[in-house]
Amino acid sequence: MTDAAMLKVVGLVAGYGSAPVLNGVSIVAQPGSITAVLGANGAGKTTLLRTISGFVRTRSGQITLDDLSLTRLSPDHIARVGVSHVPEGQGVITELTVEENLRLGLLLRPRAARGTALEDAYRRFAILADRRRRLAATLSGGERQILVIARALLSAPRVLLLDEPSLGLAPRVVAQVMGLIRQLRDEAGLTVLLVEQNARSALSIADRGTVLSQGKVVAEADAADLAADVGLRRHYLGF
Ligand SMILES: Nc1ncnc2c1ncn2[C@@H]1O[C@H](COP(=O)(O)OP(=O)(O)OP(=O)(O)O)[C@@H](O)[C@H]1O
Ligand SMILES: [Mg+2]
Repeated sequence: MTDAAMLKVVGLVAGYGSAPVLNGVSIVAQPGSITAVLGANGAGKTTLLRTISGFVRTRSGQITLDDLSLTRLSPDHIARVGVSHVPEGQGVITELTVEENLRLGLLLRPRAARGTALEDAYRRFAILADRRRRLAATLSGGERQILVIARALLSAPRVLLLDEPSLGLAPRVVAQVMGLIRQLRDEAGLTVLLVEQNARSALSIADRGTVLSQGKVVAEADAADLAADVGLRRHYLGF
């Protein structure tokens, strides 16, 4: 893994139509840590990730990766400097095999830097090694989620953006996926911005957490403190 980077968002205003969805959002993802982004339906979590990745235009505010401003870069450029975005919905290409899906992740790396990355991925994600020649269509939801995370890692990201990796998965599988994300932080030192509606699961592995409501930050603290805040849980976190 390449060096983890710090992702910093300051005063972000962004959205789709005339009224912005994000109204001055600030968040920091510290190197080698997991930062949870929580909040109800429509709070603006996905919009935040899409703006960081350059798919939604920043109207005002700044987004930086270490010292580099991402604010006016194209999505392609942002991906190439090491921001890897795993969108919601376990989006594998079902007509391709597991290995073909994984190879797509390598395309962002210079050929000379691909080395043993694929073998390394199979070592880390044994379940994918067992299924490498199977069509992705045959995978379970949990296996697909692991595949899209593994594919994102093959681009050697410095920051990983995950949008609702638990969505649609059985509780036991959610725990496995969360364990995997935790492992990526602990063993690979990855910087992760983890968007989740499943606040309880996300906070169980996160270092810090930010809660969004209607495009604004309503809380920001250590994950354990957020999880212990009964009022916050009742109002915003649903557990
Ligand atoms: N492509 C779009 N065009 C116009 N409005 C959009 C678009 N995508 C999202 N919105 C609106 O922006 C607001 C925030 O949506 P967003 O998807 O960022 O929320 P979210 O926190 O990710 O919600 P969820 O938990 O349901 O995924 C919502 O009011 C939504 O209707
Ligand atoms: Mg969303």
